[in-house]
Amino acid sequence: MKKKILITRKLLRSNEDRASNIWDAKLNSNDQIYSKKKLIELSKGCDGILSSLTEKIDEDVIKNLPDSVKIISNFAVGFGNIDIQAAKKRNIVVTNTPDVLTDATAEIAMLLILGACRRANEGINWVKKENWKWSADFLIGKQLTGSRLGILGMGRIGRALAKIAKSFGMEIHYRNRKKLSTEIEDGAKYHESIKSLFSVSDVLSICCPATKETKDIINKDTLEYFPTGAIITNVARGDMIEDEAMVQALVSRKIYAIGLDVYKGEPKIHPEYLKQPTAFILPHLGSATKKTRISMADLAITNIEEFFNSGKCKNKVN
Ligand code: DGY
Repeated sequence: MKKKILITRKLLRSNEDRASNIWDAKLNSNDQIYSKKKLIELSKGCDGILSSLTEKIDEDVIKNLPDSVKIISNFAVGFGNIDIQAAKKRNIVVTNTPDVLTDATAEIAMLLILGACRRANEGINWVKKENWKWSADFLIGKQLTGSRLGILGMGRIGRALAKIAKSFGMEIHYRNRKKLSTEIEDGAKYHESIKSLFSVSDVLSICCPATKETKDIINKDTLEYFPTGAIITNVARGDMIEDEAMVQALVSRKIYAIGLDVYKGEPKIHPEYLKQPTAFILPHLGSATKKTRISMADLAITNIEEFFNSGKCKNKVN
């Protein structure tokens, strides 16, 4: 008998075809976002769920999933949308899709840095107004060459970003749960504390996972650690930033500009970000290339296959 798998969001065609060949796949052809209630309802009779970051699979949802559900394969490297401990208690395996999105996400991290440092948002607004003119001091931004990039979270994406940023002449500093080996560090300087990292960050890129420890790590107090005129960018999750404090820091010019791809409670965005000319903001595009999205969904499918074939899964996170 074919396994029945609920796929919560529409995938690219080739991925849906593959899933439908292997399983009795319940697809979401309208690509609507399911409520918790709907998700529970649709999972009846399913052996697994291929979820995405738009579903909040919290303790409450997990408790109400049918016993038949054995695996939740998240179509993302981040899995903050799933209560992995609650899943573990119910013997539900949770998996993610690491590696395949590293390069695409590091590209967007670099785009955020460039966009914020070189005032891309203001530039685009001027071009649309059509009344701009070149002048020696028009939209002067911050040059990357020789500036210090602080990377918070030196995992795969942080390291890929470090490599790109080095080619722009940036000096790399990082904070990570563990210091990396000299070889992997590749010249980047490790900091024992966020205070030490932030105080040397002309530009910061947040690349760490959302955890209890990293929630609101950028807040009123920690913003004080930065050099005046620093730039803060975030390609990871919105949970890491206390938005009100960030807006205040932008308004006071303590922080020169920000580059954000992710938000707390997205797709909602703190309304002040939209008003700030120095905010270069994108709608969660980190992994949004065809190559990467196909690879991510392929891996999410493979994770389920591997689990049902062998009882194990290398990308298990709980
Ligand atoms: C992830 O995989 O966590 C990304 O944010 C999805 O775009």
